[in-house]
Amino acid sequence: MALIDPFQRAITYLRLSVTDRCDFRCVYCMSENMTFLPKKDLLTLEELDRLCSSFIRLGVEKLRITGGEPLVRRGIMTFFDGMSRHLDSGALKELTLTTNGSQLEKYAADLYAAGVRRVNVSLDTLDEAKFAEITRWGRLAQVLRGVDAALKAGLKVKINVVALKDFNEVELFDIAAWCADLGMDLTFIEVMPMGDIGNENRLGQYWSLDDLRGSLAERFTLTDLPDRTGGPARYVKLGETGQRIGFITPLSHNFCESCNRVRVTCTGEIYTCLGQEGKSDLRGPLRASEADAPLEDAIRAAIGLKPKGHDFDYSRQELGGQMSRHMSHTGG
Ligand code: GTP
Ligand code: 5AD
Ligand code: SF4
Repeated sequence: MALIDPFQRAITYLRLSVTDRCDFRCVYCMSENMTFLPKKDLLTLEELDRLCSSFIRLGVEKLRITGGEPLVRRGIMTFFDGMSRHLDSGALKELTLTTNGSQLEKYAADLYAAGVRRVNVSLDTLDEAKFAEITRWGRLAQVLRGVDAALKAGLKVKINVVALKDFNEVELFDIAAWCADLGMDLTFIEVMPMGDIGNENRLGQYWSLDDLRGSLAERFTLTDLPDRTGGPARYVKLGETGQRIGFITPLSHNFCESCNRVRVTCTGEIYTCLGQEGKSDLRGPLRASEADAPLEDAIRAAIGLKPKGHDFDYSRQELGGQMSRHMSHTGG
């Protein structure tokens, strides 16, 4: 029996965070001094495998591995290799990840070998100094080498850009041209009010994708595309170049009514909405029994509590629907 939530949405997409750690400290995601979870609280690689296998048995077809930065989790390739069997059986249609790209040089070929065909790389600027500023600890050259390695390994790459006013606004056309040159998809994301990280600034950073789209339309003819990648992005085509660009607009155009996903953290908490506090524990039932039935009951019960949508709100010139949880906790 498939997983259906109280609003008749089928849940077919699992986003699994395998670590809360990251080798970057992006300003909109983490504070500089983060306290990370003790290792003993993490699900083991075997437990992650059991958990995902249960979700797949219950109808999940798309599995995205996130973090923190998923590729800094020790032994993570063992987990990817294990998931290959669900691709081989046909139960899983897509195994993928969202990464900051820092470790792709090392892992791109192994990911391809495990059956990954597409990766989303978060990259907000092509300016070295600005990259260091926004990621605090990241270095652009390393990420560019990672992107290059991914393309060489045969992976399709989608670049995720968080749209930030007065930061990468000026780079809109440069980033688009760079992606077009390398044959990569590109998606812009509206910045969401997650985590207590100096939010006086957040409202000022917010760049509505309606405005960004308007800027693109000054140079290109935009046509809405029906294309879907299984996530929340809605795509347009630039008539003059044929390039495809995606928009993720939780603030300006809520897409909750078509939500098909849930998130599980590295400690086995399931969050049924990125923008709500509601969560349930899966680690208890996972560890309580070697049989998967209690775990599957817990998954069904959690999905039975999935809310209708988020309450993020930047209207009235103040921040509403603020989430205290950092983005790195649930993996975005
Ligand atoms: P594709 O498979 O390429 O469609 O990827 P995706 O958009 O599903 O995943 P990705 O990890 O690239 O996510 C891009 C952005 O979308 C991140 O900032 C996520 O936080 C955001 N996002 C994904 N799902 C949701 C959601 O359900 N609600 C909200 N508000 N944001 C989401
Ligand atoms: N708002 C929007 N997107 C965010 N990401 C991280 N924090 C935020 C935020 N506050 C993005 C990352 C990555 C994806 C998983 O989430 O840049 O692309
Ligand atoms: Fe790390 Fe991604 Fe968060 Fe940046 S956005 S700190 S790369 S998890």
